[in-house]
Amino acid sequence: MSQQAVNGVPCRGKVLTVENMNPNVKRVEYAVRGPIVQRAVQIEKELREGVKKPFTEVIKANIGDAQAMGQRPITFFRQVLALCSYPELLEDNKFPEDAKQRARRILDACGGHSIGAYSASQGIECIRQDVACYIERRDGGIPSNPDNIYLSTGASDAIVTILKLLVCGEGRDRTGVMISIPQYPLYSAALADLAAVQINYYLDEDNCWSLNVAELKRALNEAKQHCKPRVLCIINPGNPTGQVQSRQCIEDVIRFAKEEHLFLMADEVYQDNVYAEGCKFHSFKKVLFEMGPEYSSTVEMASFHSTSKCYMGECGFRGGYMEVINMDPEVKAQLTKLVSVRLCPPVPGQALLDLVVNPPQPDEPSYTSFMKERTAVLAALAEKARLTEEIFNTVPGITCNPVQGAMYTFPRITLPPKAIDKAKAEGKVPDMFYCMKLLEEEGICLVPGSGFGQKDGTFHFRFASLVMLILQKYSHSLNFSPFCLITTNFSAFHGFFFLFFCFTS
Ligand SMILES: Cc1ncc(COP(=O)(O)O)c(C=O)c1O
Repeated sequence: MSQQAVNGVPCRGKVLTVENMNPNVKRVEYAVRGPIVQRAVQIEKELREGVKKPFTEVIKANIGDAQAMGQRPITFFRQVLALCSYPELLEDNKFPEDAKQRARRILDACGGHSIGAYSASQGIECIRQDVACYIERRDGGIPSNPDNIYLSTGASDAIVTILKLLVCGEGRDRTGVMISIPQYPLYSAALADLAAVQINYYLDEDNCWSLNVAELKRALNEAKQHCKPRVLCIINPGNPTGQVQSRQCIEDVIRFAKEEHLFLMADEVYQDNVYAEGCKFHSFKKVLFEMGPEYSSTVEMASFHSTSKCYMGECGFRGGYMEVINMDPEVKAQLTKLVSVRLCPPVPGQALLDLVVNPPQPDEPSYTSFMKERTAVLAALAEKARLTEEIFNTVPGITCNPVQGAMYTFPRITLPPKAIDKAKAEGKVPDMFYCMKLLEEEGICLVPGSGFGQKDGTFHFRFASLVMLILQKYSHSLNFSPFCLITTNFSAFHGFFFLFFCFTS
């Protein structure tokens, strides 16, 4: 402890130091906003200060943040949110009547008729009812009970809350949580924070990142030697790998969860982002109920959705919900208590969620424009998914699976042995080394595959296909197709990288 005096006042040393802080927090890693992104922010600052670089702007392909990439918000959503935030606008005849009706209904459900008031901790009741109706419609009439719906601060908050309920035990009895590799790093970060045991199951890159039950069994049996597996997490459509699970695969997973007595967590935040022909989104809840009462009345599950993805892209509002199924009533009471400690999810996010689950109907004035905007965004996302796959597969040394859904690709890169050695000598993992060089030389910001997990000896990066929005913006001014721009930059970079490390010592 340092006792040096500053301005004559003796220092007593910090109470909280990196040595004595919570060690679980130190183990948390979140590559999506990791060192590459920090360097990208620094480079942007350098560019603003006039430092000369081979590029004039950093292209951020590291994050699935649609509006940051230029996607325009859906007008109807913002109209209702504006009315809710500033109710004097209800007198303004520029706003359509259906937007005003929605705003009045939401405001009537808020304390003091204000979205600035706290709400019930589980979320505003009429919004939970709307969520339940949405799920029923989506799942072909399978009932959903609003009491099983918990509104949340984005899906992230709900996922961490459920994990918190599940993690317990010491030593070999510590809860093991099965997560896919590659995974979305919220999961590994939350497990590190909770000191749970992470059980990796690998997706099959050679089969379009599909999930197979034999691999789940392998991972589970190995893990049983050192922990107590209790949870199976699935992301469908997948992040970072963009695969969409078949109905058969979902059935197999549910059967496995039942046989192995596992709690299922179904992360379905990309449920509207399905592009590939022949692929369809099947909710775990629907498949579970279609498998009959043997499954639907026993398998415990939580499924998650969010306002951040799909055609909405409203990440900043932090709206989301989870539906819990077959949860023990006493545990549910504990869950309700746990969420009440944080008072409530953001009320503007709850209002937005209400509009997502209860959009304009065909007999309402905003229906046509709403559908037009929604269809255009989804069509643009589908086109970007197709383009990204096409682009990467034209670059020698890069292979990319079809993007069936979500907003990302996870292409595989071949790295020369000398590049791998050089990376190791610099204390970097090889794909981090590659991505850092790409950032420094081309101004393209990606997340290295190691941040998501990958099979030993393979290297990847995650590319958020939303970035095509930005490239399209360039294409107008440069008279240069976005396809051309990224292909040329990537090809040139990858080719040079390869040659440099093959032919220099
Ligand atoms: C698979 C997956 N789950 C959950 C989230 C968290 O989303 P949010 O907390 O913004 O709802 C994300 C965000 O990218 C995601 O990709």
